[in-house]
Amino acid sequence: MAKREIVKVGSDVLRRQSRDVTEFNEKLHVLLDDMAETMYHADGVGLAAPQIGILRNVVVIDVGDGLVEMINPKITEQSGSQIGQEGCLSVPGRHGYVDRPAKLKLEYQDRFGNTKKITAKDFFARAICHETDHLKGVLYIDKLIEVED
Ligand code: CO
Repeated sequence: MAKREIVKVGSDVLRRQSRDVTEFNEKLHVLLDDMAETMYHADGVGLAAPQIGILRNVVVIDVGDGLVEMINPKITEQSGSQIGQEGCLSVPGRHGYVDRPAKLKLEYQDRFGNTKKITAKDFFARAICHETDHLKGVLYIDKLIEVED
């Protein structure tokens, strides 16, 4: 495994659409391993492939329940709303509040190409929305809301 450099906001690669993975091979496994290492080293809870300069639909997430690798993730249903704080390894030193679905259904493939269907809620749902946005070239800072207190 190898730690990769995290691309920062302002870089064009963060604003482009990623493409689906079609080959579940050793190259993908190396990418996944490197992404996990990079995420953990940076104390992140999620990382999307464009954040290391790779325009592929691949994300890794660990919100405290273990590592989840998601290839070609697609949100198929979403409901409710939750406002919470987010940050991003590509936008260092900043945080902000974003409105996300409270609950969602997601389809993705694992590193071997097996299709998975899950339901996610709360912070896990938020992390999935944040990371899948990266695959569309969207950053959380595009969605910041003002919060009254
Ligand atoms: Co991010």
